[in-house]
Amino acid sequence: MAPFIVFEGIDGSGKSTTIHEISQRLSARGIAVESLREPTEKTDASREIRRILRTVREVTPQISKELLDLFFIDRLWDINNQIIPSLRAGKVVLLDRYFFSTAAYQADSDARAHEIVATYLADDRIILPELIIFLNLPVDEALRRVGTRRELDVFETETRLNAIAARYNSIFSALPQHKKTVAVDERRGVLTAQDFEELSARIAALVVAQKK
Ligand code: TMP
Repeated sequence: MAPFIVFEGIDGSGKSTTIHEISQRLSARGIAVESLREPTEKTDASREIRRILRTVREVTPQISKELLDLFFIDRLWDINNQIIPSLRAGKVVLLDRYFFSTAAYQADSDARAHEIVATYLADDRIILPELIIFLNLPVDEALRRVGTRRELDVFETETRLNAIAARYNSIFSALPQHKKTVAVDERRGVLTAQDFEELSARIAALVVAQKK
C-alpha cells in the first residue's frame, strides 16, 4: 500500500494550500496522489455534520457527543470506501483532517482529548497514517486568514480556537507514549516553498521505502 499522510491544524492554518502544493510536487515526480478531506461531504453523516456546524450557536455537551458519533460514522465510510481503495491502487493519500481533529474539537478537556485518541488507536478498523503534518499557526494569524475567506463556523472564534490549538499540542506531545507511534512533522508559521519541497521529498522517500 502507498503511504497515508494526514494534515492537522486549526482552521486557517494552511492545510488545503499545503495539500495542494505537495500534491503538485508529488505529481511532478510521477507519484500518484489522492487528496481527501474529512468530513467527506459524501455521506448523510457528513451532511448532518455540516448542517450542525453551520446552524448551532453553542456547542453543548450533547451536540459534541452527536458530532463525535457522526464523525466516526463518516470516517469509517471514508476509510473503507476512499482511503484504503486509493492506497491499494498505489496512490499516496493526503487527508485533510482525521481523528486527531475529533479529539481536538470534540473534547472539552485535554484528558477527554487523550481518551478520544486512545479509543481510535484501540479500534482495529481505524488505519494509522505513516506521517502527520501538524500545521501549528498562531491563532490570531489563522483567524485573519479565515476571516477574509468565508463565513465562519461555530468553532471559529479566538477563544475556541485557542483551546483547540492547546488540545492539538497536548495530543501530539503525548502520541509517542502510545505503542502505535506515528511520526509527527510540526511546522510553525506560514509555510514557504522550501517547506513544501521538504515535505514532498519526505513523502516521496516514504513511497520509495514502501516499494522495497
Ligand atoms: P474544514 O473547515 O476543515 O472543512 O472542517 C470543518 C469543520 O469541522 C472544522 O471547523 C473542524 C470540524 N471538525 C471537527 O469538529 N471534528 C472532526 O473530527 C473533523 C474532521 C472536523
